[in-house]
Amino acid sequence: MRNTIGCDGNADPPLLAIFAALDERTTSEELLARIDRKRVPRHVAIIMDGNGRWAEQHGEHRMMGHANGVTSVREALTAATELGVRYLTLYAFSTENWNRPKEEVDALMDLLVRTMVKELEELRTNGVRLNAIGDLDSLPESCRGTLQQGMDSTAGNDRITLTLALSYSSRWEILRMVSDLVGKVAQGSINASEINERTVGEHLCTAGMPDPELLIRTSGEQRVSNFLLWQIAYAELWFTPVLWPDFRKEHFFRAVLDYQNRERRFGLVSEQVAPK
Ligand code: IPE
Ligand code: IPE
Ligand code: MG
Repeated sequence: MRNTIGCDGNADPPLLAIFAALDERTTSEELLARIDRKRVPRHVAIIMDGNGRWAEQHGEHRMMGHANGVTSVREALTAATELGVRYLTLYAFSTENWNRPKEEVDALMDLLVRTMVKELEELRTNGVRLNAIGDLDSLPESCRGTLQQGMDSTAGNDRITLTLALSYSSRWEILRMVSDLVGKVAQGSINASEINERTVGEHLCTAGMPDPELLIRTSGEQRVSNFLLWQIAYAELWFTPVLWPDFRKEHFFRAVLDYQNRERRFGLVSEQVAPK
């Protein structure tokens, strides 16, 4: 018999397509209602990718993709705040991105400054603490200044910490950590035998933050592109073909729902994680 769910629980293809189509129509409110608020990840990190392809698909200049990505940042931040996520970390500009054409790099820095200026009051009044990680000294002065102003004026907020990874790469961060620790050992302020996972964590840009439990990457690429390599050791990875400028609250909620359906084992056997 066709179009039925067999006794093995498997639906046949036409029925699956109907389920998928119905699921697509689920509203963000319905998705939100399905989320177990007691098991929301504390820290979600996002590799915001696909702006260039979005622009190409819409017959626009690449910069239009980046500009439209700002709406998606707002949506991700709203979704995270609604859920009670405490840390949202966004990969906005990598060390490697400096090698893009100068025109694109300059326009991206300009967009960053304009967006921060425009959104700052909203961030401040909504309890968002702005933070940044990366080689911030390499950013143009206008960008550094605006960022610092944003961080200073939101320093008292504690609803959610929004961290922008700017001129960031994990290898840069790890090299900096090694060099800091080697320097401290040479000065005698720390013993080489005292170096452990905690001391390493304390010398990374993310010191004081919990590791991300969930890493989202848009645009269909399934790689981590030099992002938080140490910190995502046990993160759940969620990939979506959605291009960043099309990312909305419901995508964030779907990622969290999927995360809640995974069994995180940390190297243990199933029974140890969820005793029967
Ligand atoms: C991500 O979108 C934004 C940055 C890396 C700054 P891309 O610009 O990488 O978009 P694609 O990957 O070319 O589509
Ligand atoms: C990763 O995207 C960096 C950011 C999202 C800022 P890229 O587009 O630079 O990464 P690759 O080149 O696809 O690995
Ligand atoms: Mg890309």
